[in-house]
Amino acid sequence: MVCLGNICRSPLAEGILKSKIDSSKVIVDSAGTGHWHIGDEPDKRSIAVGKKYNIDITNQRGRQFSIDDFENFDMIYVMDNSNKEDVLALAQSDSHKEKVKLILDEIFPGENVDVPDPYFGGNAGFDKVYEMLDKACDEIAKRL
Ligand code: 4NP
Repeated sequence: MVCLGNICRSPLAEGILKSKIDSSKVIVDSAGTGHWHIGDEPDKRSIAVGKKYNIDITNQRGRQFSIDDFENFDMIYVMDNSNKEDVLALAQSDSHKEKVKLILDEIFPGENVDVPDPYFGGNAGFDKVYEMLDKACDEIAKRL
């Protein structure tokens, strides 16, 4: 799960998907394309919205997406088109590129919909992000 800061959207996506899969069979992780929040806890507003739904993301710490992630993971879900561009710019091969998917393609196939960045907005933005990610993760979990 990849966003820009790895403190708002992708930590929620990681927590939500983990709650829907068998963690002995599937490894879910998240990262940011940026470096600003390496080692940081998720944003308090993401922690709060997760808590409302019994998803605890407090143990997560920010890390930056790296080229190794293309080898270490089968699927790379990006939150928005800007994340997609940034991740694709690091891809070394077509097989890397094929792993990169916009997460909301899971519920709005082919419509190119972004998970909006809630960082500079209010709490309502975080609720909206949660709802979108929950639906998308239901689809991912069904396939897994
Ligand atoms: P995220 O949100 O990409 O959903 O984690 C952001 C968090 C921090 C910043 C931007 C977006 N930032 O500019 O520090």
